[in-house]
Amino acid sequence: MREHERRIHIALHGAAGRMGQALLRAAAARSDLAVSAALVRPGSPLIDAPLRQLLGAQAGDLEFRAALDPDTPVDVLIDFSGPQAFEGALALALERRVAFISGTTGLAAAQLAELRRAAQAIPVLWASNFSLGVALMQRFARMAARVLPDWDCEIVEMHHRRKLDAPSGTALSLGEAVAQGRGIALDTVAAHGRRGQIGERPAGQIGFHALRGGDVVGEHTVIFASDDERIEFTHRAANRDLFARGALLAAQRLAVADPGFYAMDDVLGD
Ligand SMILES: NC(=O)c1ccc[n+]([C@@H]2O[C@H](COP(=O)([O-])OP(=O)(O)OC[C@H]3O[C@@H](n4cnc5c(N)ncnc54)[C@H](OP(=O)(O)O)[C@@H]3O)[C@@H](O)[C@H]2O)c1
Repeated sequence: MREHERRIHIALHGAAGRMGQALLRAAAARSDLAVSAALVRPGSPLIDAPLRQLLGAQAGDLEFRAALDPDTPVDVLIDFSGPQAFEGALALALERRVAFISGTTGLAAAQLAELRRAAQAIPVLWASNFSLGVALMQRFARMAARVLPDWDCEIVEMHHRRKLDAPSGTALSLGEAVAQGRGIALDTVAAHGRRGQIGERPAGQIGFHALRGGDVVGEHTVIFASDDERIEFTHRAANRDLFARGALLAAQRLAVADPGFYAMDDVLGD
């Protein structure tokens, strides 16, 4: 992927949400890209409201809209909404033939398959986590799983009390990395929580545990345990701004990429 040389125009889907607002703030701090559309849910009371109401002067003159004006310049559509709104965003990116980046989690298998299909026509990057630190942790987890095939692996995550899906998309992506490292399908070895007389832990199982509470932005630990020793990789997100910055870095790369399915690992580079 080559770096872009002119200003990149971004349409933001889910602009009024927590991540949407973090993206608007992060984009306002960069001169090489501009948010050209801030899209909210049809029927939202925010439609036609100036972004300044939420973000202050740095938001410029943009207003929230429910639909993308055909004349609005767009290079990349970024979606942080919800599984029910995600398909509309993908359809819009396909219609405009622009790169599509989504961080929406809780997607169904059919929706992920739609993303793969779309990647034949446009550059697509879906990530359950836009942190570069988590992208690196996935590499570590894949490598540890490959090198230590007999060690037990457990994945623990904690998020704020308002999170709707469990385990987190990031925990599942970390599990996928472990499964890839071992050359197996995650579905065949995943165990979600434990309770009661469940018997001994089967070899090769990948356990997931989801904690919820307070305002925790996102914490993930991948544990590899043998009889004598234990390795733990932990990542803690301090705020949403790091996800926003990662998504904008991805937008910069995808704006000039060929159609295909990309991951944050591609953005991370070697
Ligand atoms: N990949 C990552 O790094 C990462 C990081 C954080 C969060 N996430 C995920 O990103 C998604 C959003 O998270 P969040 O914390 O920002 O949630 P949020 O605060 O609930 O924001 C979601 C926004 O999407 C809006 N929306 C709903 N339907 C829409 C539509 N049809 N068109 C446009 N906007 C629509 C919602 O509007 P209303 O409130 O009006 O319904 C809301 O403002 C979730 O799936 C979350 O798990 C991913």
